[in-house]
Amino acid sequence: MSERVVPSPHLDALRRPLRDLRISVTDRCNLRCTYCMPQETFGRDFIFLRHDDLLRFEEVIRVARQCVALGVRKIRLSGGEPLLRRGIERLVEMLAKLTAVDGRPVEVAMTTNGTLLAKKAQTLKDAGLTRLNVSLDALDGEVFRRATGSAAPVAAVLEGIAAAQAAGLAPLKVNAVVKRGINEDQILPLAAHFRHTDVIMRFIEYMDVGESNGWRLDDVVTARDILASIHAQYPLRALDPQYPGEVAQRWAYVDGGGEIGVIASVSHAFCHDCSRLRLSTDGKLYTCLFANAGHDLRTPLRNGEDDDALRARIARIWQGREDRYSQLRHAMTEGCAGKIEMSYIGG
Ligand code: GTP
Ligand code: 5AD
Ligand code: SF4
Ligand code: SF4
Repeated sequence: MSERVVPSPHLDALRRPLRDLRISVTDRCNLRCTYCMPQETFGRDFIFLRHDDLLRFEEVIRVARQCVALGVRKIRLSGGEPLLRRGIERLVEMLAKLTAVDGRPVEVAMTTNGTLLAKKAQTLKDAGLTRLNVSLDALDGEVFRRATGSAAPVAAVLEGIAAAQAAGLAPLKVNAVVKRGINEDQILPLAAHFRHTDVIMRFIEYMDVGESNGWRLDDVVTARDILASIHAQYPLRALDPQYPGEVAQRWAYVDGGGEIGVIASVSHAFCHDCSRLRLSTDGKLYTCLFANAGHDLRTPLRNGEDDDALRARIARIWQGREDRYSQLRHAMTEGCAGKIEMSYIGG
């Protein structure tokens, strides 16, 4: 049997390969998490993108296909809330047909707030979705309301998680962003709730994304503190990363209660092997979550640029990439203006 020739990876200016593409499919969300879309900024008058501004699915696929040709193996759909985008299953189905340069099917994942998941989990699985991460910051209804600025019930998210498990979307991960004074009292209840289930509970340090969340270092509960409080109750041992560039540090309960993760992007930057490229809802490529400008692809797409030229354009953008914001955070937070919002770039 002839051996498949895998082309050498496309490296950026810091010699990091392109492996992951995160696609934001809408800038809208039905929640108003204080750390992402605070109500004071994202109120009734906030102007979201118009329908014509959004990349159409056919345009998303064209970009995704060229990114896959350049080395992308995993595509994660996010938002805003991706389940608000009409017909999202159709996009999942089209993406799931792509083959990575190593000959394997591209992994198609999604990060959702879970409130609309109960009805959609099975159709997403049938469309070819492989993995799902669900955000859930609290089990307590009052804390959840405060953290998400919404009257949505916790039960809706738990039903969504159960439906995703029943549909076989595994491993399922639950994300909680921990913000001091808001939900740090939910760390242990969340950890306890998902012990001995197949769900991987992950705790995330609150990051300074965008300009509207009023981020202060004092509001960050560090991964170290989070781990210490869980370890005191349920002893933990460290696990090895599953792949280079994994954002979460993995831990296992010593008593066999399963796995958890912490995402320490503030206290422990993971830029050195960051392989992620981001496509915004309106078709701009961002080489970092904290970038303050993107590279417009929608104009060339709508002006008829062909696939070869599109791929060369994306390759040039990746090759020029020098971002390592989290590593430089301490030097940069002073006086840095114009960072884009999380709901627009998609986490
Ligand atoms: P897995 O494929 O399950 O490992 O997903 P993920 O952890 O990469 O994605 P998810 O959407 O669940 O994101 C979890 C948290 O990590 C969120 O707070 C993201 O904003 C954050 N995150 C993801 N990628 C990056 C990154 O490149 N840089 C930084 N600083 N944070 C990131
Ligand atoms: N800091 C850390 N994580 C955040 N997310 C949204 N905003 C922030 C922030 N400021 C998380 C969401 C979701 C993922 C896409 O990003 O909770 O799990
Ligand atoms: Fe919506 Fe997710 Fe942002 Fe919360 S974190 S406002 S659920 S996009
Ligand atoms: Fe990657 Fe930028 Fe996040 Fe660093 S801060 S891990 S370069 S997205």
